Amino acid sequence: VLEGKCPFGGNTLGGAQTSAPTLSDWYPQRLRVEQLHRDGAAANPLSDEDYAAAFATIDLPALKAEIKQFLTTSVPWWPSDYGNYGPQMIRMAWHSAGTYRIADGRGGAGQAMQRFAPISSWWDNGNTDKSRRLLWPIKQRYGAAISWADLMVLTGNCALEIMGFPTYGFAGGRRDAWEADDATYWGPEHIDMTAPSSYDDMVNRDQRWTGKPGDADYELQQPLAASHQALIYVNPEGPEANGDPAASAVDIRITFGRMAMDDEETVALIAGGHAFGKSHGQVAADRIGAPPENAPMEAMGLGWHNPQGAGNGADTMTNGIEGSWTQTPTTWDNTYLENLFGHEWEQTRSPAGALQWTPVDPGAPRTPDAHLPGVEHPLMMMTSDIALKVDPVYREICQRFLADFDAFTLAFSKAWYKLTHRDMGPKARYLGPEVPADDLPWQDPLPAPTAAPLGADAVTRLAQAIRDTGLSTSDLAYTAFSSAVTYRDSDKRGGANGARLALAPQKDWVVNRRTVPVVAALRAVAEQAGASLADTIVLAGCVAVEDAARAAGHEVQVPFTPGRVDATQEQTDVPTFEWLAPLADGFRNYTQPDLTEVTPVSPEQLFLDKADLLGLTAPEWVALTGGLRALGGNHDGSPTLTDRVGVLSTDFFTTVLSPDLQWRKLDEAGTRFALDDRDSGEQVHAATRHDLVFGANAQLRAVAEVYASRGGEARFVRDFVAAWDKVMMADRYDVRAG
Ligand code: HEM
Repeated sequence: VLEGKCPFGGNTLGGAQTSAPTLSDWYPQRLRVEQLHRDGAAANPLSDEDYAAAFATIDLPALKAEIKQFLTTSVPWWPSDYGNYGPQMIRMAWHSAGTYRIADGRGGAGQAMQRFAPISSWWDNGNTDKSRRLLWPIKQRYGAAISWADLMVLTGNCALEIMGFPTYGFAGGRRDAWEADDATYWGPEHIDMTAPSSYDDMVNRDQRWTGKPGDADYELQQPLAASHQALIYVNPEGPEANGDPAASAVDIRITFGRMAMDDEETVALIAGGHAFGKSHGQVAADRIGAPPENAPMEAMGLGWHNPQGAGNGADTMTNGIEGSWTQTPTTWDNTYLENLFGHEWEQTRSPAGALQWTPVDPGAPRTPDAHLPGVEHPLMMMTSDIALKVDPVYREICQRFLADFDAFTLAFSKAWYKLTHRDMGPKARYLGPEVPADDLPWQDPLPAPTAAPLGADAVTRLAQAIRDTGLSTSDLAYTAFSSAVTYRDSDKRGGANGARLALAPQKDWVVNRRTVPVVAALRAVAEQAGASLADTIVLAGCVAVEDAARAAGHEVQVPFTPGRVDATQEQTDVPTFEWLAPLADGFRNYTQPDLTEVTPVSPEQLFLDKADLLGLTAPEWVALTGGLRALGGNHDGSPTLTDRVGVLSTDFFTTVLSPDLQWRKLDEAGTRFALDDRDSGEQVHAATRHDLVFGANAQLRAVAEVYASRGGEARFVRDFVAAWDKVMMADRYDVRAG
């Protein structure tokens, strides 16, 4: 008799103690639907806080003064270089923002992801753990009134300012994440993250690149923006640590381009950033301890234990390269470019063995030791710095900046502002007194409203006018959904506000072809009513959903919040909007014809990714898809597994879950399927992976079963309307918190 005791005497194995191997180790191809539910309110101890209100209580000048005071007050456990923590804080802020990539909008400074693995423990983030720990007393004093994400960027700005650099502006408003981000794809390589390795060892980069530097087909896998796993951008020693500045320039252009930076911005950022501070390479990497995520308990979340001397100060080891770029590492001046162009440079090695460059000319200026009074060292450049001199386009920009320090200063201040604010989304999210008044193209600006939002009567009249067009519920719903579905919660871009569906490049996307005549008709309605096109398109969707629900016997009111405005073509940066074009969109059953040539990622994985970027839960994803199918929402107008298009029914779920039906691959790759009648053998339907996944995947199937079961239709209609409204409102930071 166990008498309620555990049969193992209380010493259970497994459970919270271990998670390896994970489900994904066992079944590598499985769709990780559960990633939709990471970092929900359950993980957030501040979920009941209104961050904007809390931030508004801060006296920003006083906070900045406190930060600036701290920057020049060294503490013994991590003494500052040159008596100034500024440079290491600039690097921390740059690395927090520098993970951003435009392809999927993930990464960036927006959530302080640098606090969590894997980013916290990337070799490239060496000693940023110290920078954040140094800031903790200030964070502690301000608590929930300033997020880590905001504090890190603000500290970067304060650092620049105390060293004489005029920053362009600062906006608060970044909400912290509360757990590691397991959803972002950082690349295919499995490198040993548990032990530090030197860049020299980290040459395993071929899986993310096609070709070699200099080849015409040299390209980096999407959506990646780093040349190597666990780097922010490029290897400072050149691709594969080969010390080749020309090849390094190729990598810099590709990776900074993926961060949405052009050549001038790239030069401004690198030359501007490296005007400050130094690189640390006193100790061989194999002597350095584990990164934070793997460090021993007593290290209390700090990693990279350095056994040499004090392990800090003059003995600091971070990246492996040693030295400073300038003779004035805590002053904003043009000495970085003067040194780069004023001297010939030759390859040498740091004490840690890393490849770097030293002036050939023994008479070149020397740079003071960061800790030892009276000691001086030769200047240093990295291969990635020499790249700016070797590449003809970068070189020309450098020479312009060399001759015009003010132009360089302005370019760096604007690029730094863009770097650190790029992923914040609409300016409605920007908080605080230092937000610049001007609109910048990368902010996807919207015009100020010229009239008050439509009142209730006007909305009713507009809805009637939409119905009077005679457009089908299917076309109206498809168009409204198409206008909103571009939203991505990663960098808060896209969405229905602005009506950019009607502008290049969106109006020209194949997936939006169906919307063109509908937009034209709705534009006439909007003009007639004095409403914005953006509002009219969204209201058209509400009308369609209400009518489809009524046709299924359900009276519902779909929420509609007016107040959207119409952007102009001039306010729409076509090349950066092109990144929002879908390779595949399961909601609209669209797959780019050459998808398999472009990416190894399956359509259903891209579908999951889109659901994730829309911020949907699994039930919302399932309900939304079922409703769009009921509304005939396939991009090409093809049948949607229902004979009652325009009726908000659960037919889609009933069909994909039916054991009486038999599916057959129509092509070798399994992109399209036929549904055959078992008795007659005749094909009755055709469908795609975007459809079948709701019957094939266990988690999606479990949800679909709810909607297909007795009593499920009413729940489905309710859930669909809520999910629909969530997507329509996703970008409305002008009226909602977040
Ligand atoms: C330091 C690489 C771009 C700001 C460093 C270090 C490396 C590096 C290896 C030395 C880290 C250490 O050992 O302490 C690169 C590469 C870049 C790049 C390869 C791109 C090609 C930037 C940018 C900025 C920046 C865009 C800011 C706008 C800094 C600062 C330091 C630094 C301020 C000095 C940190 C300190 O003194 O502790 N960089 N960097 N870097 N980087 Fe960069």
